[in-house]
Amino acid sequence: MRHYTGFRRACASLLASLLLAAGAGVRAGEVEVLHYWTSGGEAKSLAELKGMMAQRGHSWKDFAVVGGGGQNAMDVLKARVLAGNPPAAANIKGPAIQEWAALGALTNLDAMASFDRWDEALPKVVADQMKHKGRYVAVPVNVHRVNWLWANAEVLRQAGVNEAPRNFDEFFKAADKVRAAGLIALAHGGQDWQDFTTFESVVLGVGGAKFYDAALVKLDAQALGSDTLRRSLETFRRLRGYVDAASPGRDWNATTDLVIKGRAGFQFMGDWAKGEFLAAGQQPGKDFRCFPAPGTAEAFTYNVDSFAMFQLKAWEAQKAQGYLAYLLMGKDFQERFNLRKGSIPVRQNVAMDKFDECAKVSAQDFGKTAKAGTLVPSVAHGMALAPGQQALMRKLVSDFWNNPQMSVNDTQKQLLALAAGPQKPLP
Ligand code: GAL
Repeated sequence: MRHYTGFRRACASLLASLLLAAGAGVRAGEVEVLHYWTSGGEAKSLAELKGMMAQRGHSWKDFAVVGGGGQNAMDVLKARVLAGNPPAAANIKGPAIQEWAALGALTNLDAMASFDRWDEALPKVVADQMKHKGRYVAVPVNVHRVNWLWANAEVLRQAGVNEAPRNFDEFFKAADKVRAAGLIALAHGGQDWQDFTTFESVVLGVGGAKFYDAALVKLDAQALGSDTLRRSLETFRRLRGYVDAASPGRDWNATTDLVIKGRAGFQFMGDWAKGEFLAAGQQPGKDFRCFPAPGTAEAFTYNVDSFAMFQLKAWEAQKAQGYLAYLLMGKDFQERFNLRKGSIPVRQNVAMDKFDECAKVSAQDFGKTAKAGTLVPSVAHGMALAPGQQALMRKLVSDFWNNPQMSVNDTQKQLLALAAGPQKPLP
């Protein structure tokens, strides 16, 4: 068996090096990449990738679809693939990778994965998500932490808020102080995926990681019908009273801008928001603060961005695609991209000395929570449920946020019905 594995690795290595060598100056290929990274920080991080591909002579065809959270991008991608004209790569992540792979649309990346030893370089929870039936079909680029609370340092000083709120009681006291100072206490973008992002941090903070996993990942009826879920919904609804009237429909990065400019005190958002503070020239600890969402300091909600690679016909395009896969997992890209994206490298053993305090805490906590069993998948960002089920929960949570007539009782009943409903198992 060992001999066979060695032989297979040798073949993989030959093929991968051919793909790479072909990238060096031989007729370059073009990669068309579907993504939704259009905000300031996102665009800066993507520019690193475009530049590194260009350095190798490959051209980048940008297939950007505006819309935070990526729902719009997925709709456009479906049309392209059904038309038999897929891009080289697309921002597809979590269980959605399985659905695309089951269609037979994705290409096998095992040659590159074996050549660059991805199984050794990646945390197992991530490597497993990138595979379909044991074969790599997607490349991860980062680890975002979702359970963050961002704050404007000067606003907190003005309002007399000196400590990070350790639980939601302390958060509401701090929010009252910010409001009393005449500022927006909580900057929130009223879009369903942002409502869902905030809700999952509330569940994690009120009930803890094990409860979060039981209720939102396993859809356990006892957890969904519990008093803890009731308290989570009540806490979530109470947040509504701290947002400004312009919240409905506001994009996440325009919402982060309220905190950057000192018009608002807090925002619940994943650390792609940090990319916006950095792009505005602000520094953590000085201009803004990164706090664990209240009650979640011992937990980590992960959201791994990845590029699924589609089967292409032209050899030049395949070469460029193979080089893209190699580049994305490289230490150089992992550092340059994540420094700007607000996330941390997904490849292990990438030096963290250029990263700021928020990122260093994230990297430490990723390892700590993985060991403690408090590392949980972000349901709001497509890491846990099948896309159809995730969309139903996202709509239910957003309806609850927007409709004060929707009672906690009714919402819990609807969550239980969703959990009991036809669950299309992942392929
Ligand atoms: C997340 C994605 C992040 C960022 C965010 C806002 O789902 O993983 O990379 O793009 O949406 O659009």
